[in-house]
Amino acid sequence: ASSRTGAARGLRFAPVAPNTADAVTVPDGYGQNVVIRWGDPILRGAPAFDPENQTAAAQAGQFGYNNDFLALLPLPGERHRQLLVANHEYTDEVLMFRDYDPENPTRQQVEVAWAAHGLGAVVVEEDRHTGRLTAVPRHPLNRRLTATSEFRLTGPAAGSDLLKTSADPTGRTVLGTLNNCSGGTTPWGTTLHGEENFNQYFANGSRATDKRYGIGTSGTGRKWERFDRRFDLAQEPNEAHRFGYVVEFDPYDPHSTPRKHTALGRFKHEAATVRLTDDGRPVVYSGDDERFDYFYKFVGSKRMRHGGSRAVREHNLSLLDEGTLYVAKLTGDSPASEIDGSGKLPGDGEFDGSGTWIPLATATAHGAVSHVEGMSAEEVFVFTRLAADKAGATKMDRPEDIQPSPHTGKVYVVLTNNTKRGLSGQAPADEANPRNANKHGHILELTEGRNRPESTVFAWSLFLVAGDPADPATYFAGFPKDRVSPISCPDNVAFDPHGNLWISTDGNRLGSHDGLFGVATRGERRGELKQFLTVPTGAETCGPIVQDRRVLVAVQHPGEVDGATVEAPASTWPDGPGKIVRPAVVAVWRADGRDIGM
Ligand code: FEO
Ligand code: CA
Ligand code: CA
Ligand code: CA
Repeated sequence: ASSRTGAARGLRFAPVAPNTADAVTVPDGYGQNVVIRWGDPILRGAPAFDPENQTAAAQAGQFGYNNDFLALLPLPGERHRQLLVANHEYTDEVLMFRDYDPENPTRQQVEVAWAAHGLGAVVVEEDRHTGRLTAVPRHPLNRRLTATSEFRLTGPAAGSDLLKTSADPTGRTVLGTLNNCSGGTTPWGTTLHGEENFNQYFANGSRATDKRYGIGTSGTGRKWERFDRRFDLAQEPNEAHRFGYVVEFDPYDPHSTPRKHTALGRFKHEAATVRLTDDGRPVVYSGDDERFDYFYKFVGSKRMRHGGSRAVREHNLSLLDEGTLYVAKLTGDSPASEIDGSGKLPGDGEFDGSGTWIPLATATAHGAVSHVEGMSAEEVFVFTRLAADKAGATKMDRPEDIQPSPHTGKVYVVLTNNTKRGLSGQAPADEANPRNANKHGHILELTEGRNRPESTVFAWSLFLVAGDPADPATYFAGFPKDRVSPISCPDNVAFDPHGNLWISTDGNRLGSHDGLFGVATRGERRGELKQFLTVPTGAETCGPIVQDRRVLVAVQHPGEVDGATVEAPASTWPDGPGKIVRPAVVAVWRADGRDIGM
């Protein structure tokens, strides 16, 4: 009972114990429902889901596979309804098709996979008495954007020779978005979507730049290059330069063409999180999720306008085209730089230090300027990783989500893990990445100079070092470790209305399933971390949204366990025994209708 009443506001629930149930497990007194799942029809004319007879045409009108990022936007004029936007990061064909042969995928299977990637928008309706949410099929704002939908390249690299292909000699129109992991919601009512591990879709890379982005030199596992030559870089070398961006989507305009913003750089964008300067300019944080890669900030030069007219909307959709892209360099100020297992932080008693945002390039209405010697501005925006290498940015332990607190302005940078830290030939632990063979990940807390989002300097400190709290090399912002839940591999984060940070995990290495956790960031209970839910076998927890009366999570890749197939599944969530496993969005609420965690 003490865990319920004694906790920080918003975290007053009995924590869910680590477990391996093939279910979404929530605290006592909470209810849940599946809002929408892979294959549910959302567009007019889309058929009911039939996994034995799936077609690309059906899939293009149905909710896609592997939901990751979620946004929930207001829908003025429609009572008890909101607009849900989701990423469909990737497909897992062995769990989708009964007869899938990885060596010989059929055209039909590949085209279904194209249609199951991308973005989805679907209107959802609230139950008036609980937090239950249900999808509204055939609503005019429901959309699917897939690997073959039209997208526009905008910003300083749009139209550059580096982006031209035989199908698109303008370098401005791309088919599809791929591997959208997490994202963000803008203050002007659009959503952002990070194209993350796009390298896996492209075959026969041969350039040093391809290598730096992880593009292989032979055929891909997915073998899409057999069905569309643009995925074969030997035939269409620039096609890969058209992926790896932040995508902006206007879900309120059912005819909008989403944009890929080159000014935010090209790398494995985990997400993109927006805040505004005091004078109304956008600042966007984005991590590059790779071992020893970097995190970035874009500071726009144009001010957001208010209002709903077409001219205002068009103006705001251009905000991310002009500004400066920076990469982070962190410096510690302590004598020691590795957690030593004593349970105490060494050196000056804290893992902390200062940092600078190093400018890489600036885009203006009249052209772009590079700040990196030996690279043009276009090269900086297309080969951003190489620019950041030259600039001397700090190599991090896989930067995932980055989220500023709406209450304090402090910025939380999630580093999910890096088991190669400290291996021979690799960078050793440093103060900002203080654990060699970092299995469980950590979270940094940044304070921008004078707490201004556009500052080019910052202070940082360690907020959380994940793992089993009994492990002395863990740290929970100083909170007593006998009163926190174990946590491993933090990934996406969100703030609740009280200022607590909610953390979803991906790849728990403590032997139990992934889940969702809330942690206090302020006050006497800062560092108090409690597990709110766990997800089914093989799944990662994504897209957390924490509202007053509802928590939303995307259960991604349930059943994804080595060797599992449709015939021999590791999970049958959410529909139960005998049914195909389906990634899905889940809403959780208090059974008594009161606020979450109060
Ligand atoms: Fe798709 Fe970095 O997680
Ligand atoms: Ca220090
Ligand atoms: Ca992620
Ligand atoms: Ca991840």
